[in-house]
Amino acid sequence: MGAELSAQILVDALIADNLKGLKPYESARRLFSGGQDWLNANESPYANEYELDDSRFNRYPDCQPPAVIEGYARYAGVSKDQLICTRGADEGIELLIRTFCTPGKDSVLICPPTYGMYAISAETCNVGIERAPLKADFSLDLDAIFAFKGIVNLVFICSPNNPTGTVVNKDDLRQVLEHFGDSALVVVDEAYIEFDLASQWASELGNYANLVILRTLSKAFALAGIRCGFTLANAPVIAALMKTIAPYPIPEPVAQIATQALSNDGLRRLATQVQSINADKAGIKAALALLPVELVGDDKGNFILFRTPLKQALMDNLVSQGILIRDQSKQLNLENCLRITVGSDEQNARLLAAMACFFAAQEQAS
Ligand SMILES: Cc1ncc(COP(=O)(O)O)c(C=O)c1O
Repeated sequence: MGAELSAQILVDALIADNLKGLKPYESARRLFSGGQDWLNANESPYANEYELDDSRFNRYPDCQPPAVIEGYARYAGVSKDQLICTRGADEGIELLIRTFCTPGKDSVLICPPTYGMYAISAETCNVGIERAPLKADFSLDLDAIFAFKGIVNLVFICSPNNPTGTVVNKDDLRQVLEHFGDSALVVVDEAYIEFDLASQWASELGNYANLVILRTLSKAFALAGIRCGFTLANAPVIAALMKTIAPYPIPEPVAQIATQALSNDGLRRLATQVQSINADKAGIKAALALLPVELVGDDKGNFILFRTPLKQALMDNLVSQGILIRDQSKQLNLENCLRITVGSDEQNARLLAAMACFFAAQEQAS
C-alpha cells in the first residue's frame, strides 16, 4: 500500500469525532484561484506602502507588540488592558470560543445570515451552535435570542453584518447585553466599522461587563494580507484570552506594518480611503438601480448585496471574464443573492459594464 493511502486510513481512524463531517470554510481564495478583479472577499482595493526594519527578524517577537497595542488602544479609545491583538479577527473568534466554551458541553449563539467563521470555529472546537435567525428585515429577533439565556456562553452579533450590510439597532443590542448580563458574553463583530463609525460600541465597554468587540486591519485598513485583528473587552476578559493565545502570534513584520497603519499619517490615509470607498459604493448602487436586480439589506460595509433570479448565469458570465464576486445564495433567506465588494475605479467600471452587457443580452434573448 502506498504511503498516501496508508496516511488516509490513519487520518480516518484518528481524526477528532467533531471534525469528521466538517467542511472547511469556503474562503474567497479557496473558491477561485484565477481572476483579475477580486471583488469577492471584502478586501480594500488599496495597496499601501510600508517600510520594514529587518534588524530584529532574528528574534522572537513580543506576544503583544507594545507599539501596536498602544496604537490601536488610542485609535479605538480604550485602555491598553482592554484589548488583545490576534492573527486577524478570525483568531479572536476562535480564542473566545476556546477560552469561554468547554468542548462537548457549551454552545454559542449565531444570528444567520451572517459571517461563516463563528459556526466553523465552534465546530472545530467541538462546541455547540444555536441559531436565532435575523428577521425578514435583518434585525435581531429578540424573543428568539432571549430564549437561549443559560444555554449559550457566547452570542455573536455582526454589525455591520456580513453579508447583509445592516447594523444592529442600538436599543436591541442594549437589551441583549442586559438580558445576558450575568450569563454570556455578547460579541459584536465590527470588522467593517470604519465604513459606519457612528455604529461603534467600544465606548460602551465601561457600561457592559459582558460586551466584547472584534476588529480587524483586513478591511478599511487595507491589510488583509498581514492578518492582524483585535478583540476589545473589559480587562478580566482580555486576561482570560491571554491564557489561550499562542506565545508569538504577531510576527515582527506584521507588528511594524500595523504600527505604521495606526500612526497619525496612517489614520489620515485610512479616513481618505474610507471616504472614497463609501462614495464609490453609492455610485455602484446608483448604477445597479438601473439594472433588473433587487438591492438587499443595507450598505454599511464595503460591499453591496443584491438578488437576481439569474444569479448563476450572471456569476458564470462574470467568472468567465475574470470578475469574481461572492455567491451568498446558500445562506438563510438569501436565495439568489450575490455580494460585490467595492473595488478600484477600474474594477467597479468593468463589473458594471459586464453586468449591463449581461442583462442587455438576456433582454434581447427573451
Ligand atoms: C464579519 C467579519 N468578521 C471577521 C472577518 C475576518 O477578519 P480577519 O481578516 O481579521 O480575520 C471577516 C472577513 O471577511 C468578516 O467579514
